[in-house]
Amino acid sequence: MKQKITILGSTGSIGKNTLDVVARHPDRYEVFALSAATQVDLMLEQCAQFKPRFAVMASAPHAQLLAEKIKQNGLQTSVLQAQGALEIIASHEEVDAVMAAIVGAAGLSPCLAAARAGKRLLLANKEALVVGGNVFMRAVREGGATLLPIDSEHSAIFQCLPEDPACWAERVDSILLTASGGPFRTRAPETLAQITPEQACAHPNFSMGRKISVDSATMMNKALEVIEARWLFDLAPEQIKVVIHPQQIIHSMVQFKDASILAQLGTPDMRVPIACGLAWPERIESGASRLDFAALAALTFEEADVRRFPGLHLSWQALNAPEGTTAVLNAANEVAVDAFLTGKLRFDHIHAVNLATLDAVQPSKPDSLESLLALDATARVAAQRAAAALAL
Ligand SMILES: NC(=O)c1ccc[n+]([C@@H]2O[C@H](COP(=O)([O-])OP(=O)(O)OC[C@H]3O[C@@H](n4cnc5c(N)ncnc54)[C@H](OP(=O)(O)O)[C@@H]3O)[C@@H](O)[C@H]2O)c1
Repeated sequence: MKQKITILGSTGSIGKNTLDVVARHPDRYEVFALSAATQVDLMLEQCAQFKPRFAVMASAPHAQLLAEKIKQNGLQTSVLQAQGALEIIASHEEVDAVMAAIVGAAGLSPCLAAARAGKRLLLANKEALVVGGNVFMRAVREGGATLLPIDSEHSAIFQCLPEDPACWAERVDSILLTASGGPFRTRAPETLAQITPEQACAHPNFSMGRKISVDSATMMNKALEVIEARWLFDLAPEQIKVVIHPQQIIHSMVQFKDASILAQLGTPDMRVPIACGLAWPERIESGASRLDFAALAALTFEEADVRRFPGLHLSWQALNAPEGTTAVLNAANEVAVDAFLTGKLRFDHIHAVNLATLDAVQPSKPDSLESLLALDATARVAAQRAAAALAL
């Protein structure tokens, strides 16, 4: 039987890589539904190639345009745009697996729907877990979902850990998340104010969406990954460490109680963790090139410099603060990155907005999707105020 897959965010970097892997295995996978926000023409191409039952667009005008084009091209895909459409395609009874690749907190609600419906949930959308925390993990447990990490670092940790999660606490000492250090790893800290969106989006090893590219440049991406790891692997914040490894060959490591370390290696290509998540525990061809050890000059490691990357430490701070603080940090960062990308905020002021928002909003323990969304909205207002005060 083929697995039926819903891809949330199919027009993005992870979405396109997922379709690339799926296209290599027509005997194993069938696309049930796709979703996007604005890229109508790309969605039309994907519908023509993969023939999904449903396509969801985030707004009515984009959905209407797509529906017209689908009709003109004689395709059978039904176009949905309504409150709840993402949740429908994420939890539909015919769906086996959901790739969660929407960027930002917008992905939280459909991720929760997939978790509650007990799906195999391939999680790229780290912000959903950073915002959802305990509520998200409870939905996974209660729904009987299988949560598989797609972030390359978390996929690496997952592959290095013992298969039975019941052994993790007694065997694992700590995990080491590797980080490329992004495009400004060696840049003079006093010049960070002049960084443009184009420079920030030029990642040395990966072509990614613009939001995660900026997060990689500030290392807020790693901060969000620390929080993601805390929930995925049920670790204390102090058990999670970060090391810069510019070549991005080692994707992350687990240190066990006896000081032994297991690492997962490979070429930096997101199709590897995607293929791993799709097929787990089996292994399938991903399309990625093989690592040539003879051609590798060196694998190097260094500590993250706090003057260049002050945001990195906010993850541990937020994890040790009252529950909900990680949701506040995520909302602040989304607002600040958007302001930077639209030319309204300096690169080095992203951190200032995050700090000001954490100071301004004290969360009361959120325990439902509604309370998380309310907290997210409150934090966004505070972050917009902070960003406006620093606006260019
Ligand atoms: N890219 C990577 O290598 C990578 C690696 C690890 C983890 N991740 C994580 O994976 C997620 C996706 O990253 P990405 O780089 O693929 O991002 P991306 O290229 O920006 O793609 C985001 C996708 O989400 C859709 N989208 C955006 N806003 C939306 C909204 N409000 N409602 C519904 N759909 C929306 C976009 O549609 P349109 O295209 O129509 O705008 C697009 O399909 C992020 O959480 C990121 O942290 C990415």
